[in-house]
Amino acid sequence: MANTDSHVTIHMAASLDGFIARKDGRVDWLETSDEFAGGDTLDPAFVEAFLKAIDCYVMGSRTYQTALSFEAKGMGWSYGDKPVFVLTSRKLPRTRDTVEFHSGDLARFVNDRLRSTFRSIWFVGGGVVSGECLRLGLADEVRYSILPIVIGDGISFFEKLDRDVALHLAEIKAYKSGMVALCYEVRRK
Ligand SMILES: NC(=O)c1ccc[n+]([C@@H]2O[C@H](COP(=O)([O-])OP(=O)(O)OC[C@H]3O[C@@H](n4cnc5c(N)ncnc54)[C@H](OP(=O)(O)O)[C@@H]3O)[C@@H](O)[C@H]2O)c1
Repeated sequence: MANTDSHVTIHMAASLDGFIARKDGRVDWLETSDEFAGGDTLDPAFVEAFLKAIDCYVMGSRTYQTALSFEAKGMGWSYGDKPVFVLTSRKLPRTRDTVEFHSGDLARFVNDRLRSTFRSIWFVGGGVVSGECLRLGLADEVRYSILPIVIGDGISFFEKLDRDVALHLAEIKAYKSGMVALCYEVRRK
C-alpha cells in the first residue's frame, strides 16, 4: 500500500546542454571554476540537514559502478548510511550492508515497496534510470542542477524519454559557483 506522504525526487547535475556524463561516462567536467557575484553559498549545516531528510536512494547499475570507482580512488561514498537500491539484472559486488539490488517491475517496486517504507525517495541517476522513472510516472519532482559548462555530447539527463512531461517550476537558486539549481514539480494529468 503506497504511503501518500511519500515523495519521489529525481536529482542530478548536468551541463548547460543537458548532459550528466560524457559518452564514456567521465564526469571530470563537474569541477568548474566560475564565480557569480550575486549567488548564494552552500551552507554546510543546511546541506547536512537537507541530506538527513533523504530516506533512501535509487540508482542504475552504471551509476553504482561509478560510485564504487570513486570510493576506490578515496573519494568516499556519497550516500552515508542510507539505504541504496541499485537497479540491475547483473550480479554486482555488494560492498556494504546498506546496498540492495533490484530487478523487475520498477513501478511496482517504487509504489508498493519503497513508498510504503520511505517518505523521501531520491533517484540519483543515471540518464537511463531517470528517463525510466519519469516515463513510468513515478516521480513527483525533478531537481536539476545546471553547471556553468557546455560539453557538446554525452549521456542525457533523461535517456529514451518517449513522451512529453509537463512540469511546474517550484524553486530556483543561483550559487556563487555559477551553478543554478532548479526544482520542478511533475504536473499530474
Ligand atoms: N551528473 C550527475 O549528477 C550524475 C548522476 C548520476 C550518474 N551520473 C553518470 O551517469 C552515467 C551512468 O548513467 P547511465 O544512463 O549510463 O546508466 P544508469 O542509469 O546509471 O544505469 C543504467 C543501467 O541500470 C540497469 N537498470 C536500469 N533500469 C533498470 C530496471 N528497471 N531494472 C533493473 N535494472 C535496471 C541496467 O543495467 P544492467 O545491465 O545492470 O541490468 C541499465 O543499463 C555514469 O557515467 C555516471 O557517472 C552522473
